[in-house]
Amino acid sequence: MSDNKNRVYTLPTKEEKYDLLAQKNAEAELGGGEKRIEAQHGKGKLTARERIDLLMDEGTFEETGKFVMHRAKDFGLDKQHYLGDGVVTGYGKVNGRLVYVFSQDFTVFGGSLSETHAEKIVKIMELAVQNGAPVIGLNDSGGARIQEGVVSLGGYADIFYRNVRASGVIPQISAIMGPCAGGAVYSPAITDFILMVENTSYMFVTGPNVVKTVTQEEVTSEELGGASTHSTKSGVTHFSSANEVTAINDIKRLLSYIPQNCEEEPPRLPYQEQEESRPDLDQLIPDNPNQPYDMREVVEGIVDEGSFFEVHKNYAENIVVGFARIAGRAIGVVGNQPASLAGVLDIDASKKAARFVRFCDSFNVPLLVMEDVPGFLPGTDQEWNGIITNGAKLLFAFSEATVPRVTVITRKAYGGAYDVMNSKHIGADLNYAWPMAEIAVMGAKGASEIIFRKEIAEADDKEAKLQEKVDEYTEKFANPYRAAHRGYVDEVILPSDTRKKLMRAFEMLENKVDTLPKKKHSNIPL
Ligand code: HXC
Repeated sequence: MSDNKNRVYTLPTKEEKYDLLAQKNAEAELGGGEKRIEAQHGKGKLTARERIDLLMDEGTFEETGKFVMHRAKDFGLDKQHYLGDGVVTGYGKVNGRLVYVFSQDFTVFGGSLSETHAEKIVKIMELAVQNGAPVIGLNDSGGARIQEGVVSLGGYADIFYRNVRASGVIPQISAIMGPCAGGAVYSPAITDFILMVENTSYMFVTGPNVVKTVTQEEVTSEELGGASTHSTKSGVTHFSSANEVTAINDIKRLLSYIPQNCEEEPPRLPYQEQEESRPDLDQLIPDNPNQPYDMREVVEGIVDEGSFFEVHKNYAENIVVGFARIAGRAIGVVGNQPASLAGVLDIDASKKAARFVRFCDSFNVPLLVMEDVPGFLPGTDQEWNGIITNGAKLLFAFSEATVPRVTVITRKAYGGAYDVMNSKHIGADLNYAWPMAEIAVMGAKGASEIIFRKEIAEADDKEAKLQEKVDEYTEKFANPYRAAHRGYVDEVILPSDTRKKLMRAFEMLENKVDTLPKKKHSNIPL
């Protein structure tokens, strides 16, 4: 037996303590080890720390919880510890502005979420809310740490709860850089924006194997939940990036339009007024009202050069949404897209635009609506899938928004869609129309067939009668002046003057104060 009583202890020197710290730092920074880092690179992915280096301004990142280790003991976990426990957390600056970040380290237990991993994320989320700065999550994880069971599920719920509490208080951005499966998808889903990396990331609630067992469908991970699927079919992701570097650049660009928190205004760039007329816009709308044009070109022609940053680009393309600047001020743009489905409002377009409007309103980003809408999309598909409830989302979102709101009717504003697309009746501050605008209950042909049905039926030449009535209706209603006489349209303006008008309008609305009636919260038709 050893004689513990007589053992001589020598305390480590200061230098030895410093060496130990250096050793631990190196160990933590290595994640799961060099071989695993190579494996990560082999999959075409960067490591958690490389991603943070790309995101943050050089030398600004401060790490929290670097030496945290899991507490689990089952299934051999008592013998396998990694400093940091599979997630790098902390804060730093992006273009000089404070942000909080967590970056999951796939090289440690597949980036899976343990109790302590979750605690680290929760900690920075709470700091972010208390200090009013965005949280950015770089997700690359196999989901709940299987060995930890319910403790890990609890950790997820702790994060979801904080996601919801932080919603509308600070911007939350999720980049999916690898797997994100099972219930893990719900944290990104609650955040304001999701970015996915093409070919290396995927999101689904149940993976291909479960899908095959339950529905007999054969589908790959990429088809089921890759960036292309979620940016076009489901709309789950707002951005799809070719690689991780472009994804991180997109995060930085996104941040440049939005404030740090709901109490602040979006950042403003210096702007020197110059020649603001845009004569090209006078030629952009085709003479034939049924001929499409690209609303993106209109938006790009009006806003500060190169400032339009489209969100949800490939999803519900019949509506275009995104951030831009006008005379250096950040704005959110919502525009019907005549080049896709003639710009009709359907379920997906309504949901897409409503979500964007609510983001802008939460974070004090003024709204510009470019309107050319022939109405809502008819059909059983739309009715049976709830165009009523979903169209109401957009109506609700605009009506509730208290930020400065300006509409420009470029061509059609028909039916209920006229009301919904930020009309003055639902609280828009200013409404402009271009001279070729048509504002009416419905299109001339449909309207004439209904209201002159008898007259047309009794005519000898029915076609000629219909045409006569269509012409009469068009002359009376298919213009912006009836609405302008009522004050529903504030001014009929030339396309070329639109930029100048909007610069002044948003400047005038800069100090707008509008509050909603006291309530617990509204009840948007979800
Ligand atoms: C513990 C995990 C893990 C997990 C991966 N690993 N996922 N460890 N818990 N959830 C470990 C692996 O054992 C392996 O360890 C290492 O991470 C790398 O994993 P590989 O399988 O070698 O990587 P790859 O081939 O790239 O496959 C990645 C993967 C796969 C597709 C993510 O690992 C996988 O299917 N994992 C399980 C996914 C899953 O079912 N998660 C639970 C979802 S349910 P070694 O030591 O061998 O290198 C869920 C519920 C959340 O998350 C609910 C919230 C409400």
